[in-house]
Amino acid sequence: MANTYHSEQTIGVFDSGIGGLTVANAILDLLPAESILYYADTAHLPYGRKSPDEIRSYSHHITGYLLDRDCKAIVVACNTASAAALDYLRNSFPEVIIVGMEPAVKPAAQATRSGVVGVLATAGTFRSERYAQLMERYAGNIRVLQNPCTGLVEKIEAGLTEDPDTMSFLNGILQPMFSAGADTFVLGCTHYPLVRKALEQLVPADSVIIDPAPAVARQLYHRLQARQLLAPSDHPPQYRFHASGPEASLHRALTYYWPTEFSIV
Ligand code: DGL
Repeated sequence: MANTYHSEQTIGVFDSGIGGLTVANAILDLLPAESILYYADTAHLPYGRKSPDEIRSYSHHITGYLLDRDCKAIVVACNTASAAALDYLRNSFPEVIIVGMEPAVKPAAQATRSGVVGVLATAGTFRSERYAQLMERYAGNIRVLQNPCTGLVEKIEAGLTEDPDTMSFLNGILQPMFSAGADTFVLGCTHYPLVRKALEQLVPADSVIIDPAPAVARQLYHRLQARQLLAPSDHPPQYRFHASGPEASLHRALTYYWPTEFSIV
């Protein structure tokens, strides 16, 4: 297939809110020459409680927005949107590189010593067909305990990542997992690595916490490389951020989590 894209174009990244910044950060680390245009769909947050049809429609709109603004690849930096819309997006935009994500059940099944794994994701991810397939494929020999952490995305968007209430909320989720012997925890929602510090204080010291963001960045690298679309190393990257609704959480999060210059568009 002829390449209609070129290497100096931008990577489009989207999430319902600030969670996808965890993935954008991993892209920045691995691919520092790439420009990024980030779309936070704060008008429709949280995705975790929306229907698959609604999420497909938002994701389609956002992908169109990003492609209209010179993007050469799309990263669905949201497990819930990937679960509901990844196949649909790939069918709708067959010529585009679209990288998605899924809860890291496979690496967790390899990492656990106790055979018990805790998965933290949204309700939307847990009820998806993609998640059911993941469980069927990789969780046959382990016990998986799931929690949709209802309300956690809103706390993170509000900047309450180290608040005592957030700590006790997380503790309430983790205690039953510890009691059942869980030693490995999957962050199956891109917002949840933003409370990683709090989680690390709560889990036993030898626990494994898995954030799939670096693996998503590596996949993006391979997909771009295969199409000869990696930005040249001397390409000066630009980082632009857009919120479809309220912008406060994005502004706040960027000051904490974005290590370099950026603009809000
Ligand atoms: N960050 C998203 C994910 O990875 C979803 C958060 C939400 O519910 O909006 O699943």
